[in-house]
Amino acid sequence: MLSTKLVVGNWKMHGRLSDNAALLAAIAAGLPPGDAVRVGVCVPFPYLAQAQAVLAATPIQWGAQDVSAHLQGAYTGEVSASMAAEFGATFALIGHSERRTCHAECDDAVAAKTLRALDAGLTPVVCVGETDAQREAGLTEAVVGAQLRAVLAALSAEQVARIVVAYEPVWAIGSGKSASVAQAQQVHAFLRSVLAETSAAAAGVALLYGGSVNPDNAAELFGAADIDGGLIGGASLKAADFLAVCAAACA
Ligand code: 13P
Repeated sequence: MLSTKLVVGNWKMHGRLSDNAALLAAIAAGLPPGDAVRVGVCVPFPYLAQAQAVLAATPIQWGAQDVSAHLQGAYTGEVSASMAAEFGATFALIGHSERRTCHAECDDAVAAKTLRALDAGLTPVVCVGETDAQREAGLTEAVVGAQLRAVLAALSAEQVARIVVAYEPVWAIGSGKSASVAQAQQVHAFLRSVLAETSAAAAGVALLYGGSVNPDNAAELFGAADIDGGLIGGASLKAADFLAVCAAACA
């Protein structure tokens, strides 16, 4: 378990300049004092400049929700990792289930994007998770293990030590139905063991849980041995809720 928890908001495709300004200011003003929790927000690409302008003087870090698997070139509509880095981004979410589902991102693409993020100096937050049907079929460890191993196989030991992994069961995302602490802890312990196969340093990679985390369940989830923080969707869009989740990470 990491001593300082990491809480990252994923705004998904939400926001507008005026609302963002109010939300970011409220989060910055209400952040728990000191360095008891590390906090980040992953915003839509057009708002990276705004996040940089508003958050640069605060301890809050920011990031993107995806990066291209390519360095540069004729890839209309894509945004490279180095472009996100130019706006001071710390994080890049990679392989979120909504990308895997809506944009057919395969494990190879997720590995390539992870490498691009690392090369640009970003911290990739590599997302893994099983569907309801896969869990029902007893395939949870097989699915998340394969998703994680596909990324680890593409990285050096030094690179593995620079990633963050987020376990987000697909059935818990946006459903209001979080995994139980026992369910999440079991998968996190498994992911920790998969990471430990690569190097001793990899065992220290931060493991975030995501999927319907809210002010009511955050403290219990963050109390589990192998849960190092959270990746927060809906609750990251309301300052009071996000701050309550951040406070729960300081307990
Ligand atoms: P919710 O917190 O809205 O369930 O979303 C989780 C998520 O997908 C974060 O990346």
